[in-house]
Amino acid sequence: MSDNTIPGEIAATLVNSSAYATNEIFDAYRWLRANNPLGLARPEKHDPFWVVTKHADILEISRNNALFPSAVRSTTLTTQSGEARARAITGTPHLVRSLVQMDEPDHMKYRALTQAWFMPQSVKKREADIRALAREAVGQFLALPGRCDFVKDVALYYPLKVVMNILGVPSQDFPRMLRLTQELFGASDPETKRFQEALTDEQFAQVLIAVVNDFSDYFGNISADRRSDPRDDLATLIANAEIDGAPMPQFEATGYYTIIATAGHDTTSSSTAGAMWALATTPGLLERVRSAPALIPNLIEEAIRWTTPVRTFMRSASADTEIRGRRINKGDWLMLCYASGNRDEEVFANADTFDIDRTPNRQLAFGFGAHLCLGQHLARMEMRILYEELLAKLRSVRLDGTPRYVESFFVTGLKSLPIAFESM
Ligand code: HEM
Repeated sequence: MSDNTIPGEIAATLVNSSAYATNEIFDAYRWLRANNPLGLARPEKHDPFWVVTKHADILEISRNNALFPSAVRSTTLTTQSGEARARAITGTPHLVRSLVQMDEPDHMKYRALTQAWFMPQSVKKREADIRALAREAVGQFLALPGRCDFVKDVALYYPLKVVMNILGVPSQDFPRMLRLTQELFGASDPETKRFQEALTDEQFAQVLIAVVNDFSDYFGNISADRRSDPRDDLATLIANAEIDGAPMPQFEATGYYTIIATAGHDTTSSSTAGAMWALATTPGLLERVRSAPALIPNLIEEAIRWTTPVRTFMRSASADTEIRGRRINKGDWLMLCYASGNRDEEVFANADTFDIDRTPNRQLAFGFGAHLCLGQHLARMEMRILYEELLAKLRSVRLDGTPRYVESFFVTGLKSLPIAFESM
């Protein structure tokens, strides 16, 4: 074993979803950045993978999509048997085929279908709709008796409603969508997975397939509706889209709906809750931002850095190459540790401190390069609007219990944030 291999206990931490619900993962990242910033992990039951922990390396790999493609190996961390099972089912390492799993030339053909829609000027047209949803969420929050679980009472539902609004899903189906996203993304968390017992890889794959099939059935019906009755929503764009002159295949259409419904929800919930956690625990922050609402975008940006809801994505190498003095071979698998990049001491002073005065805030929670988050402007806007509405009416807030995290090495965030508050 050469000296590029990282210690076994750190490798085990990287694949242990419960470590992502505590500071254990940040301790591991800190050690890696200092001692082996691009090391090889060889955890049990997994193929070896390079662990990319430095801000600069995450950007370099993300920017170079031809050398580090997404379609070849699983884009999320998986066990050997998990990947084998996905291959047996779909013939690829992926259970779904969305933008995230595509490389060029397909990736740009699919991304171009909705890219203009997600640009700032276009997203801004939704501002009135989104403000109405924010006012509704804030009104319900303020009607609570001064104590609540901010995740369950606000942060989970508001982003869900926004994303369902832009997709065109009717409100009676929101609970079903919430359950599906949690099953897909939080499937490794003991409290949200369908079965409470530990699952074998085979059972786990079956759960995911059942969830994907639910999505497929549901959005198949939405597509049929939008073909006969087009509206001003993303479902209409996806349902009527053509790729190379032919209708988008059903498998890819399901992938498209799935990525927007899922990527746009849990992620934004996490950073929305993270901002409230900071407000509840940072002396003077609430008063400062409330009296200077122009600081709300800083609050949002720092909440996104601090929470980094998407913890990891994977890439593979399409050719032999070298980064940070390490020889990476064609076919090697790499883990981009966004939350480590966002705490990199070389880029962020006092990286573990929540600090709204970081200018510029070079957080990389939205990724970089061709796959840079399509929903980043929407995410920032919906969080800004919610906090504009909320802070104007919030006199005080403090923690009222112990916050708890979702256990997942993929998308994670607060699962519970008990707070006590007073309104103005
Ligand atoms: C704070 C909130 C969010 C975070 C932290 C986040 C994070 C990310 C990251 C890291 C990626 C890169 C994937 C890769 O490199 O493989 C990504 C891609 C993506 N995100 Fe987000 N996201 C957020 C909100 C949203 C929202 C609100 C939407 C849409 C409603 C959205 C839709 C997408 C889509 C469609 C992609 C795939 C882009 C592509 O592969 O070309 N995201 N996101």
